[in-house]
Amino acid sequence: MIETRPTRNLALELVRVTESAALGAGRYMGRGDKIAADRAAVEGMRLMLNTIQMDGVIVIGEGEKDEAPMLFNGERLGTGEEPQVDIAVDPIDGTRPLALGLQNAISTVALAPRGTMFNPGPFVYMHKIAVGPEAKDVIDINAPVKDNLIKVAKARGEHVKDITVVVLDRPRHERLIAEIREVGARIRLIPDGDVAGALMTSLPETGIDIMMGIGGTPEGVLAAAALRSTGGTLMGKLYARTPEELEAGRRLGYDVNRVLTLDDLISSEDVFFAATGITKGELLDGVDYFADGATTDSLVMRGLTGTVRRIKATHRLNKLSQISVIPY
Ligand code: FBP
Repeated sequence: MIETRPTRNLALELVRVTESAALGAGRYMGRGDKIAADRAAVEGMRLMLNTIQMDGVIVIGEGEKDEAPMLFNGERLGTGEEPQVDIAVDPIDGTRPLALGLQNAISTVALAPRGTMFNPGPFVYMHKIAVGPEAKDVIDINAPVKDNLIKVAKARGEHVKDITVVVLDRPRHERLIAEIREVGARIRLIPDGDVAGALMTSLPETGIDIMMGIGGTPEGVLAAAALRSTGGTLMGKLYARTPEELEAGRRLGYDVNRVLTLDDLISSEDVFFAATGITKGELLDGVDYFADGATTDSLVMRGLTGTVRRIKATHRLNKLSQISVIPY
């Protein structure tokens, strides 16, 4: 049934969640303390998620991978009223760059109707290919790298040498990088942050056409939520780090050969996504603090309408300190 009036856009509430996390975590830029930064982001997120009128459950939490302070899987958040939603969080995507004072750390969160988000179980990593709207129907995660690059170039009306591929700078990607070079496409190596990497494929001003490689599963689901809104796509396949992980997954019914489409990762169009920059990056500006205040830069997206908003905000920390339990 088509709604005759616009419904509530929860993404506009979600941006307060990522802003709060970024304002807290931004204080730790370059201070070499990943745990304290994570704790600040998690506290900021939890506080604001609990203000939203929703019955939310964390499906994609973080913390297991690096034993960081967590918004843990199964945690209930929100006021407890309708709607019932699944929540995916990455309080800091780029904890290491934030702690080292490097670029491209962001805070990100997504919501989707209950039961529509993929639960990756014991799998920490997945193979991913992400592209923008022009190439969404031509990629195939089981096809050779060369074929994907040629097809993406064709779909974009470009030559393969015009294509720029984002790849996480990891030893595990040595072969992938060699194969991309062989075809003649360009590579942008990123030290961390593949939610932003995937999202850049949908934002023409970044000059990125495709993201390839193995990254975190939480980041895969979050990127899928964002690409649902931009019209791009992400395809994945779970990746086991050890035979034990493979076996644990198999016992729970996971199949590492199964191709995960955007629909498998988030099976509803009714999805909301927000991200706020913590340190300055290609996608978003970082938090900038000044006397009694700070500025933030965020992206806010809604799957149902495809609306992508950029929100630059000025926060008055002296005023906030009178009503908030968090001393940003
Ligand atoms: P965190 O900051 O949340 O740890 O993630 C950073 C990140 O670069 C992700 O963007 C990416 O998906 C993942 O790490 C890759 O994992 P690894 O650093 O173990 O290769």
